[in-house]
Amino acid sequence: MCGIVGYIGDEQAAPILLDGLSKLEYRGYDSAGIAVYGDQGIKVVKATGRLKVLDELTHGGSMLPGTTGIGHTRWATHGAPSDINAHPHFNKDESIVVVHNGIIENYLKLKKRLQSKGYEFVSETDTEVLAHLLDYYYEGDPLEAITKIMHRVEGSYALGILFRDHPDELYAVRKDSPLIVGESGDGNLIASDVPAVLKYTRDVYFIENEEIVCLTKDKITFYNIDEEEISKEPTRIGWDMEAAEKGGYEHFMLKEIYEQPKAVADTLNPRIKDGKIVIDELGMTDEDIRKIKKIFIVACGSAYHTGVTGKYVFEGLARIPVEVDLASEFRYRNPILEPDTLVIIVSQSGETADSLAALREAKARGIRVLGIVNVVGSSIAREADNVMYTWAGPEISVATTKAYSTQLAAQYLLAVKFAHARGVITDEELAGYISDLKKLPDQIELVLGCKEKVQRFANRYLAAKDIFFIGRGIDYAISLEGSLKLKEISYIHSEAYAAGELKHGTISLIEEGTLVTAVLTQEELYQKMISNMVEVRTRGAFVMAVTNVGNQEVEKTADFVLYIPKTNRYFTNSLAIIPLQLFGYYVSLGKGLDVDKPRNLAKSVTVE
Ligand code: M6R
Repeated sequence: MCGIVGYIGDEQAAPILLDGLSKLEYRGYDSAGIAVYGDQGIKVVKATGRLKVLDELTHGGSMLPGTTGIGHTRWATHGAPSDINAHPHFNKDESIVVVHNGIIENYLKLKKRLQSKGYEFVSETDTEVLAHLLDYYYEGDPLEAITKIMHRVEGSYALGILFRDHPDELYAVRKDSPLIVGESGDGNLIASDVPAVLKYTRDVYFIENEEIVCLTKDKITFYNIDEEEISKEPTRIGWDMEAAEKGGYEHFMLKEIYEQPKAVADTLNPRIKDGKIVIDELGMTDEDIRKIKKIFIVACGSAYHTGVTGKYVFEGLARIPVEVDLASEFRYRNPILEPDTLVIIVSQSGETADSLAALREAKARGIRVLGIVNVVGSSIAREADNVMYTWAGPEISVATTKAYSTQLAAQYLLAVKFAHARGVITDEELAGYISDLKKLPDQIELVLGCKEKVQRFANRYLAAKDIFFIGRGIDYAISLEGSLKLKEISYIHSEAYAAGELKHGTISLIEEGTLVTAVLTQEELYQKMISNMVEVRTRGAFVMAVTNVGNQEVEKTADFVLYIPKTNRYFTNSLAIIPLQLFGYYVSLGKGLDVDKPRNLAKSVTVE
């Protein structure tokens, strides 16, 4: 999704904007632009394509002198990716300039009204409406103009705004689109995400919905929509820039794959105390846990896939019925939410628009919402009744790996805790589950040792047209994620199927040489899976299997086998997903694709 950076201070703004935008590249974008307030007024340069085009065009920013500016990377929603549609956008006399993340839902109506008043539009964007609307309401007081447009505009926005009449001020405002403010001794910054400002400061303010901020080089003032000054406390960011940089790895994705043992340990360990699972932030007593009648796990993409695993784990361990829902479906399907239901929203970014909307839907209906979130202070983290953070650290690659693994770990902890609180497992069994959980980081480390083997194998499938993933139970959930990992970064068509379902249609797609990845980690389902492997093999498929060490029998049916260490049957996903992540990575790498920034995708999907 789009990225915003703004700076006001004593330094040259343009290089800071370009650097900040480069830290937001992971969000996905197709064009970029900056506006800098210099001696000649506000100057804008925009370019389609990668940031380096903008960097070259402005000679590293040196062609735009000035110490105040705003920048933007655009992920097209309204209007094709083009120089004209790229942000920033001006009003007619170039006295107001705006960058915007989000979607203005009533922009067509507003555009018509503005056109009827003589405003001319040059772009196809919804954002340009904001520049003209500000112009319409502006009578010398930026704050007043901003609050007026807030009353007119429907949809989501984070805005950075410069007014020519106010050279020493930079304004920003948000509603349903993330925005932070960084406070540094050498000037102040705005951004859509923390990595953009980390080089300059670790003290950030998280802007809430309908809050406005006015930055000067040495002062930050916050206002509510009624133009009243409000006070806010900064948050000190614990992680540093190194955590958000590649650190010698060719891609963020590979680095993040390798960070999984630590990320999982960081998520598990602080919650295992004296042989018990202690999740203080849950805000629920054992009595509350015993009252839960149903759980909904709601999320998008890979986070949704962790929920599919979560369903098996919560139901199997704690015997609580679970529904897993795609957030984009949940929010509109009027789900039946009885009292004593717990809704769990899973999200790495904490900003995914559909997940946030699902959270609000559940809360509006009086249902308790627990967020499992990675980004501290994000919207979902703030709005959930309780938040359990996954301690994966910043995840930059669009294809999630370490956040996914920590989301699984968080759900394992909850399921085991719930099972014990409800008396489904004994103290002794609890100790066994905890011991298995504690082994996971080292076991993940061990599985990472298959890297070279996976790479060699992946190189044989660079030209594949279709690849299938099959599994049963939790192995089906792993297949869903393995398939998404592959297709999103390799652009190879891929599908995941519950293995027993294949013969109801999809098996007709299997032809000589089609790769079918079979996941078999559930001992009681081995034989069923082997039958499914035989079915596809006899139709010409080449079968790669991922299974537990000791299941050598699979070699009779599979053409290529990868083994994972034995763990509790509920936790196998954490190990079996590793070779599948590596497989996706190496196919993408072998094809020479942009692994970390796959086409058409964004890291944080803040629009519906
Ligand atoms: O930030 P979130 O966890 O809410 O994001 C959800 C999905 O957009 C995300 O998992 C997406 O599917 C990734 N590209 C998967 O690698």
